[in-house]
Amino acid sequence: MVSARPAVQSLPAYKPGRNPADLARELGVARAVKLASNEVAFPPLPAVVQALATAAAETNRYPDNGAVVLTEALATRYGVDPAQVVPGCGAVMLCQQLAQSFNDPGSAIAFAWRSFEMYPLLAQVAGARSIQVPLTPGRPGGPADTHDLEALAAAVDDSTRLVFVCNPNNPTGTAVRRPELERFLDAVPADTLVVLDEAYREFVTDPEVPDGIELMRGRPNVVVLRTFSKAWGLAGLRVGYLVAEDPAVADAVRRTHVPFSVSMLAQAAAVAALASEDEVRRRVAAVVAERDRLTAGLRERGFDVADSQANFVWLPTGEATAELAAALESRGVITRPFAGEGVRVTVGAPDEDDALLAALDEISAGSATATPGS
Ligand SMILES: Cc1ncc(COP(=O)(O)O)c(C=O)c1O
Repeated sequence: MVSARPAVQSLPAYKPGRNPADLARELGVARAVKLASNEVAFPPLPAVVQALATAAAETNRYPDNGAVVLTEALATRYGVDPAQVVPGCGAVMLCQQLAQSFNDPGSAIAFAWRSFEMYPLLAQVAGARSIQVPLTPGRPGGPADTHDLEALAAAVDDSTRLVFVCNPNNPTGTAVRRPELERFLDAVPADTLVVLDEAYREFVTDPEVPDGIELMRGRPNVVVLRTFSKAWGLAGLRVGYLVAEDPAVADAVRRTHVPFSVSMLAQAAAVAALASEDEVRRRVAAVVAERDRLTAGLRERGFDVADSQANFVWLPTGEATAELAAALESRGVITRPFAGEGVRVTVGAPDEDDALLAALDEISAGSATATPGS
């Protein structure tokens, strides 16, 4: 009998956000809103739809493996050399490529926890040790929801090849600011690669939260990860990118690229999206305004919600988490629960967020057990 590697056999399955179709099948809920996967609620950009229609006519051919047009468009936008840019099949694939390119079995990957759920999984697949550094309260007396960069720097040891800093952090939405991030980058050894995972960068409004691509300059052991899945509205097409200060680092990541994994449609759509940046900015502004409204609505209902710098908010509901998420699902609202810790809620369209708030009101009217903090 064949058997998979022990590291793979013991791998917990990646849990994607549930879909309205799951709720229809499992609970008989006819209509549901999905606030579980941090997509934007807007339809694809008109220029993207147009570019997809044109590219569709050529899909009997393989895509450009080097994604030259997209790479150049990104390099121009960020004022870097194309040799510093690596597009990938979603930022998540680039996370995996980073581990493949830099982690021998027995080496380590450090990151805060809780953070993006892929980090421990990709460490395990690479045969690398996960160094998990607990989050710390961002506000006195508040829940542990913020990177503890001093502890993270102290946890880096001789075997640590990668450190992920998710800024803003998924799932808590908090972001670290320039002075502490600069101190952290100064403290990390030159032979450890720091990955600033900025999947939600476009939603940052705090001017003290630095742009990783600016911070990276002059630091050859820093790379920045971004994605077209969130603000740019291309989650279904799978395209993200990495920008490295050192072209040799970008070259190492390119070596573990799965050939042709950034599809022709994804490349064409990303180029069209970049050319529609004004519209993307307007959409992001609408998400940010809705984030404020949703945060206020949740605080009015007693939830201890930190200011989010992303397109989602975090409800630190602790032991009440699973029950609350189930109660919301039975009312047609899908969120992302992390059992025993909290619920992550994507900022949706105003009517979707109203559905969430109404469901919360219904839950707290009907039962004392699912009220915040209980
Ligand atoms: C922090 C973070 N990084 C990376 C990703 C991966 O994005 P994608 O693979 O869709 O580009 C996500 C997606 O949820 C994320 O939250």
